[in-house]
Amino acid sequence: GVAMIIAVDGPTASGKGTIARGLAARYGVPHLDTGLLYRAVGFACAARGLDPDDPAQAVQACDFADSLLADPELRSEASGGLASRVSIHPGVRRALFDRQRAFAGQPGGAVLDGRDIGTVIAPEADVKLFVIASVDARAARRHREMLGQGRQAALADIAADLAARDARDTGRKDAPLVAAADAVVLDTSALGPDEAIAAAVAIVEAKR
Ligand code: C5P
Repeated sequence: GVAMIIAVDGPTASGKGTIARGLAARYGVPHLDTGLLYRAVGFACAARGLDPDDPAQAVQACDFADSLLADPELRSEASGGLASRVSIHPGVRRALFDRQRAFAGQPGGAVLDGRDIGTVIAPEADVKLFVIASVDARAARRHREMLGQGRQAALADIAADLAARDARDTGRKDAPLVAAADAVVLDTSALGPDEAIAAAVAIVEAKR
């Protein structure tokens, strides 16, 4: 492995998760999907009858989130929507900060993907990728993924949901979704998974 911190940020279904996993495998470093932490907090609200839009109740849910991290329900659209709602509360972001920092600080290096890795969690990262794709490309991916899981959904509804989530993530005051000044923007609209990973590897190699 290489002792590098690689930050991979971007919106939902941009391909950042695929790229982060690909880079972690390529360089032999551990990977943290930070969205899962927020999803676990959102899901904990639902499981415990706590209001995700109430800052104090959302912070309370952080105490129960750990036990839910392996739950397959975290991958659902519902959990993603709840995650986006709890993630606007500064108290929730604070509660999740230390473990993300600790992960980034591992001596062998790390890959983290999320929304604020290059800006807030690991501003010292050696490589920062900001992964984007058109709403149409992202909606088509999500649609294909859902059909593959045997779930029905209208493409237009998926696109509307993605746009709403983008607006919430980009518009929030605390740690909004924004490219770090020193991030390299990678547009995956026209790329398949392997091509996106190859493009990311090329960016990392250029920085080493
Ligand atoms: O990446 P994923 O879709 O799993 O993230 C779910 C939600 O969690 C995002 O829409 C975002 O609101 C929030 N999130 C965040 N900061 C991160 C990762 C995720 O606010 N680092």
